[in-house]
Amino acid sequence: MSYGGYGGGGGVDRYEPYKSSDSRYGSSYGGGGHGGGGYGGGGYGGGGYGGGGGFGGGRRDLDSMQLAKPDFSNLPKFEKNFYLEHPAVRARTDAQIEDYRAKRQIHVYGDGVPKPVTNFEEASFPEYVLGEVMKAGFTEPTPIQAQGWPMALLGRDLVGLAETGSGKTLAYLLPAVVHINAQPYLERGDGPIVLIIAPTRELAVQIQEECHKFGSSSRIKHTCVYGGAPRGPQVRDLQNGVEICIATPGRLIDMLDSRVTNLRRVTYLVLDEADRMLDMGFEPQIRKIVDQIRPDRQTLLWSATWPKEVQSIARDFLQNPYQVIIGNPDLKANHNITQIVEVIAEYDKYPRLRDLLKEVMTQAGAKVLIFCETKRGCDDITRSLRSDGWPALALHGDKSQKERDWVLAEFKSNRHPLMLATDVAARGLDVKDIKVVVNYDMPNNAEDYVHRIGRTGRAGATGTSYSFFTAANGRLARDIIKIMREANQVVPPALDQLAMTSSGGGPSFRSRGFGGGGGRGGGGRRY
Ligand SMILES: Nc1ncnc2c1ncn2[C@@H]1O[C@H](COP(=O)(O)OP(=O)(O)OP(=O)(O)O)[C@@H](O)[C@H]1O
Ligand SMILES: [Mg+2]
Repeated sequence: MSYGGYGGGGGVDRYEPYKSSDSRYGSSYGGGGHGGGGYGGGGYGGGGYGGGGGFGGGRRDLDSMQLAKPDFSNLPKFEKNFYLEHPAVRARTDAQIEDYRAKRQIHVYGDGVPKPVTNFEEASFPEYVLGEVMKAGFTEPTPIQAQGWPMALLGRDLVGLAETGSGKTLAYLLPAVVHINAQPYLERGDGPIVLIIAPTRELAVQIQEECHKFGSSSRIKHTCVYGGAPRGPQVRDLQNGVEICIATPGRLIDMLDSRVTNLRRVTYLVLDEADRMLDMGFEPQIRKIVDQIRPDRQTLLWSATWPKEVQSIARDFLQNPYQVIIGNPDLKANHNITQIVEVIAEYDKYPRLRDLLKEVMTQAGAKVLIFCETKRGCDDITRSLRSDGWPALALHGDKSQKERDWVLAEFKSNRHPLMLATDVAARGLDVKDIKVVVNYDMPNNAEDYVHRIGRTGRAGATGTSYSFFTAANGRLARDIIKIMREANQVVPPALDQLAMTSSGGGPSFRSRGFGGGGGRGGGGRRY
């Protein structure tokens, strides 16, 4: 199958709806250009790093913004332990539990760890929650859910680590629904009860969609507070009262600073992609937010990666936590992904990409996600691919949110099965049928590699990642080899060679986001 001549008819691949309202991008799409399909024109302004628009609180310096310290004396008591151990779970012997955990590679730490549940009924969720899970067609809990649900329902703090695509979202969301339904109703002026913080707008919106699916049967109200979208509807939602608020840090701080909402009622706090939220890009903002929340809240941190650098920082946010780790506690990739690394010269990358696309874009419905280092690189390669007839679109932080939404919707619906993105798409996004991930440029660190390739091979599906590795990426070689070996992948000799000749150890995970002129204080601006 060939995509030659794609776009010749114009129309479907144009970014028309917002053309007139966003002059900066108006000329990027739809303005004539290659093959009549309309990706020509200029309009690639603001490429590279630090080009604003990244996220959250507009142009204000979020790091220097001070929020008033709340008074935590005389707080009303609240309940956070809702766990009723199912008789079948209670009846299991220690040996049976050990066996269950061993088979699913569940490792647990902490005082008084509860037994895992082995099916949905045992989790002691109320009927209305169970019904939604059944409707989704799931047959059994994933390992992180099997062990994470009883831990979270007990009301304890928790660090949950499991591979990409293994159902962490529902691991925190279903207990959140139970938590909310046991709290007193919201009153006028109350802020949310559950706060979920995520690093990117697209991920926040995706989490809200899950809230909608699994919370609406109990009439839970939710809103998503993120930059780039109009404030008005978000302000209205918050003022009308929502039980769940999903937020990116910048816009949330903005809302708190302008007293649109408050976090006095928050008793269940989730940091999704917790290691990203605690790296240097976001940590000051997270501290600011968490300082607004009562200290006896329940706090749950989730990720597929948990670098040492953030482990000690995380302790500041947790009290007597449980930890559940699925699989190898070291940095690991999802084993359903076939990892292919090609050692290549920089100038050979584009021709190789074209050949690769001819090989992999043969299956109807299969999507390909290509990661680039910079926004400009993303745009340049997208433009080249389109002029070569490929149905490519780009997602990155220099685009208006409307355009970002449109691009992602096109990709999800398969109208444009080829998407190029910066790391803005690296974490958490759950798009069906991504069969191939390409690292056109290698990421800055091994954690991002794990998350990027984890956009494929989700929920038991299989997928393949291709990574173009140049001599300039040498510092990453050892880490990538380790990840590949752990997943029983074939390491090319050229990569081994590079590992031997390069000084190992990539840049520190925590310090990322500081290179390339992105500047401090803009966790999301980097991409
Ligand atoms: N018990 C289950 N059985 C089958 N599929 C499930 C189950 N729970 C969740 N899923 C599905 O698995 C997919 C991946 O889930 P989710 O996005 O929560 O993964 P994740 O662990 O958060 O991944 P990432 O680390 O990339 O954020 C989703 O499409 C979700 O609907
Ligand atoms: Mg996730």
